[in-house]
Amino acid sequence: MITNTELETKGNLFPGEVKAFEFDGDSITFSTANTVLLRITVLRDSILRFRYATDGIFENDFSYAIDKDTMHGFNKFEIQEAPSLITIITSKIKCKISTTDLKIGIYDLQDNVIVEEDLGFHWEESFKYGGNFVKMNKTSVEGENFFGLGDKPTNFNLKGRKLTLWNKDQFAFNKDLDELYKAVPFYTALHSNIAYGIFFDNSFKTHFDFCQDKRNEVKFWAEGGEMNYYFIYGPKIAEVVTSYTNLTGTPDLPPLWALGYHQSKWSYFPEERVTELAAKFRELDFPCDAIHLDIDYMEDFKCFTWNNKYFPDPKLMVEKLEEEGFKTVVIIDPGIKIDADYKIFKEALDNNYFCRRADGPFMRGKVWPGECYFPDFTNPKVREWWAGLFKELVGEIGVKGVWNDMNEPAVMEVPGKTFPTDVRHNYDGNDCSHRKAHNIYGMQMARATHDGVRKYSFPKRPFTMTRANFAGGQRYCATWTGDNIATWEHLWLANTQVQRLCLSGMSFTGSDIGGFAEQPSGELFTRWIQLGIFHPFCRVHSSGDHGNQEPWSFGEEVLNITREYVRLRYQLLPYLYTAFYQYTEEGIPILKPLVYFDQEDVHTYYRSDEFIFGNQILVCPIQDAHVQGRRVYFPRGKWYNFWNDEIVTGGKEHWVDAPLEKSPIFIKEGAIIPKFPVQNYVDEIETEALFLDIYYKNGNETSILYEDAHDGYDYKKGRYSLKTFKFRGKPGEIIIQQHKDGKFLTSYKHLEIRIHGLPFEIEKAYLDNEEVSLETLDFDPTVNTMKIPKVFDLIQFTSKAKS
Ligand code: GLC
Repeated sequence: MITNTELETKGNLFPGEVKAFEFDGDSITFSTANTVLLRITVLRDSILRFRYATDGIFENDFSYAIDKDTMHGFNKFEIQEAPSLITIITSKIKCKISTTDLKIGIYDLQDNVIVEEDLGFHWEESFKYGGNFVKMNKTSVEGENFFGLGDKPTNFNLKGRKLTLWNKDQFAFNKDLDELYKAVPFYTALHSNIAYGIFFDNSFKTHFDFCQDKRNEVKFWAEGGEMNYYFIYGPKIAEVVTSYTNLTGTPDLPPLWALGYHQSKWSYFPEERVTELAAKFRELDFPCDAIHLDIDYMEDFKCFTWNNKYFPDPKLMVEKLEEEGFKTVVIIDPGIKIDADYKIFKEALDNNYFCRRADGPFMRGKVWPGECYFPDFTNPKVREWWAGLFKELVGEIGVKGVWNDMNEPAVMEVPGKTFPTDVRHNYDGNDCSHRKAHNIYGMQMARATHDGVRKYSFPKRPFTMTRANFAGGQRYCATWTGDNIATWEHLWLANTQVQRLCLSGMSFTGSDIGGFAEQPSGELFTRWIQLGIFHPFCRVHSSGDHGNQEPWSFGEEVLNITREYVRLRYQLLPYLYTAFYQYTEEGIPILKPLVYFDQEDVHTYYRSDEFIFGNQILVCPIQDAHVQGRRVYFPRGKWYNFWNDEIVTGGKEHWVDAPLEKSPIFIKEGAIIPKFPVQNYVDEIETEALFLDIYYKNGNETSILYEDAHDGYDYKKGRYSLKTFKFRGKPGEIIIQQHKDGKFLTSYKHLEIRIHGLPFEIEKAYLDNEEVSLETLDFDPTVNTMKIPKVFDLIQFTSKAKS
């Protein structure tokens, strides 16, 4: 932890009095008596960027995190001058800058404090490395809460915690461990029903203190680079998170198969084992879309090779798997084995693509293949070369997904488990040491991999995932929470970490279901599947040396229960895909922690057991052994018990029975939940009908449904279908209005609806105001199901004829 005690230090330095300021379109730049510059840029009415320079010169303005396509623009940017105070006013906020000490206060238009500064910006010169340690201290008002910061394996609300962002390979990590695989220097704060976000766009090692040192102070600082951060105003958490996600970018839609169930292990080999595994899934009718091959598919763990003894004809194997509905996903690590006869090594060496130490030698380190050199993925030429390497794997052999690992970067048997900080990087033409490039190394590897897999998968969509990542890396890859352990505590951690990642812009994420290290009991595996099917990425993976972790390895009961849950995921794919659409289009997180769902409800501030899957399904996994139920906190509103349609009123805790086969799942009243029939893999069957489960409400509720061809890029040309269903219910009548956008024509013939919780008997049905007989709709009054045409504007069911 860096403190103010560095030898030869001048101690903390502070900006002096403002001598001048000038405008430049969207920015205002202040210069102080001691050569400090502060530039405030208005990106949008609710987003301000703050950059500080201490020697009167800003660094080259370059960021890996910010999405270049981010839309800028504001409605209002007004300046008011008063003695010792300049105020920037947008249509959402006021930002006051004190010209005596450059301290900032941000307020809403009613002058409520959003955030103010105590020490504000200050810095410490670094004699060892040059440049500064840049620091920011802000005041934290009473009752403030903090959320986000990536994959931290700790309690959901970060209040009282001090955390460091420095990507690290942490096999079998434990709760509250500080440095993990990802660095996302973005948090959301909430107080007085006002939410705002801070994104500290600095790739050096960064530190955050959420009121630990001082009860009323929040601090963030970096061991180099600029104090360069974005302030994002809500006042809703939803607005903060979606604005941040738009600023740092969203991915394209994944292919639908990638949302199916994935089976992985370290490692499945040889080929017969893989084929047997695939056959077993089909024999047991256990849905599965992807099989992952870990490092043993390679020859001596050399990337882009195959072990021909284990896999004599990979292309044929991949093809056969594809015929059975399985996509093959393979692992690729960054370490390239030092071997003069190895083509990839030779190419990188000849082209000077490997990272070097300060004085010129290559960065040499041990990983799975033994001694390796490492490509400098921060060099655009290296990324292009790397992307090209997927031609054979993806373009010719037909692999459908690539999984990047060990890219923190991990190095074995050395202190710190990574590169020494003197290693040099290109950083897209902004040459630097590993101190600056460490946290983005994995992200740039993932980017190069994504570019390659995308290119050679075309016209299909790619699937890529990465373990290490940085803010903005969600544009390229899915991710997972890394080497967890088969314990109940880790099941709890997986739940919290995935919610936290969703609040950090990285929604396409999941955990190693069942635990990577050690072996789960059948009960733990079952409970983990019951959680994992609701994670945006759903994969069972394990280290493989602690016994088997396929769903049938724990006996009949576990197999039967877990199969039902994985089937449920497949049924809910249209619902999940819609949530993915909202994420990729608008940056809306796929899982919503309760505080995101209802920030006015103070009961939610410290809760992460429950979450909202998509927009309308409340999930509360069982996270303890041998329990038959638990207390669940229900957000305000009314919720249907998924298993028996009993209605629960929210705003408080209720006991919910949960024997092993029943995990607590609830549906928001008024919701219309789209479902597929059960399938063994995505697009196995040409569906005749889409199911809509309608949950009656006395009142209104809006639901949406996104559909497209499940793969390919036609959706970008308008060939998608986005339906909005407006539900209106009252005793004796329900009305559903449908509105469709987009040019995509779905292939199913009709809708099969089922109305839950209907408090009256349906006597009459009207389709676009014309009465239709209930018989023609195949109406079954015992369960309120019927078939209706998929094209309609308005459908109405009543207990008696319309007057
Ligand atoms: C790392 C990964 C793990 C993988 C293993 C072998 O530990 O996190 O998922 O199975 O390496 O490649």
